[in-house]
Amino acid sequence: MKGIILAGGLGTRLHPLTRITNKHLLPVYDKPMIFYSIEMLVNAGIGDIMVITGGTNSGDFLRLLTNGKHFGLSHLHYGYQEGEGGIADALKICEDFVGDDKMVVVLGDNIIEKNIKKTVRDFEAQKSGAKILLTKVEHPDQYGVAEVEGNKIKKIVEKPKKFISDLAVIGIYFYPNDVFSKIKTLKPSKRGELEITDVNNAYLKQGKLTYSILDGWWLDAGESKDTLLEAGMFVKKHGANHI
Ligand code: DAU
Repeated sequence: MKGIILAGGLGTRLHPLTRITNKHLLPVYDKPMIFYSIEMLVNAGIGDIMVITGGTNSGDFLRLLTNGKHFGLSHLHYGYQEGEGGIADALKICEDFVGDDKMVVVLGDNIIEKNIKKTVRDFEAQKSGAKILLTKVEHPDQYGVAEVEGNKIKKIVEKPKKFISDLAVIGIYFYPNDVFSKIKTLKPSKRGELEITDVNNAYLKQGKLTYSILDGWWLDAGESKDTLLEAGMFVKKHGANHI
């Protein structure tokens, strides 16, 4: 199983904080934001990790993370996304790194309470297709949202204007390596991005998308200056990535 952390994008919503460094290197309480996603993967037993960065400050990642020894790793892989073409656009850079393996893809601004080890094991045992994690949120219009019926997903809509469900699709995705052929068929959305929601809907259309409800809390720390501050205070109080 390979681990992928997507930390590209220009972070313009966080200007001026992101003028001289990348959003994922900003502090969330006592650590740079990206530490939480690396620890999440390492704690789940995934040590073969690629970090995708972007923008003009990508060298900061190397200076901070070096070869990953802080996390007990012997090496880290790095990739560079030109521009801000979307989450699926960043993911496609990892095709050679993933090879024939399956992968866990983590958005570098997502922080969770608990260990995802069990979900990784469930996905390893899953014969085909992809898996997503859902959690209840107060403002579903800010996320990808899934409408479910029993153990089946009916549809996923990116930032729905009309309420369809309060279950957000969090930024931890489980894919087999055919995800790259799916990405090649995508067209940019209205916001000019290759959307991860379109990837998930491609699996859904084939009846090959499973879901679990996330155990514990979830934070999207990089949404705005407010969520960055709130995430820091929340993590100070509750800790994150409990084993
Ligand atoms: O956090 C969960 C949500 O993340 C999902 O519910 C949505 O379905 C999904 O589209 C995404 O929504 P956001 O609007 O919050 O995505 P954002 O543009 O903030 O990007 C999230 C992370 O993805 C960001 O921290 C870095 C990475 N990224 C994003 C873009 C647009 C890249 O690596 N490259 C990119 O071009």
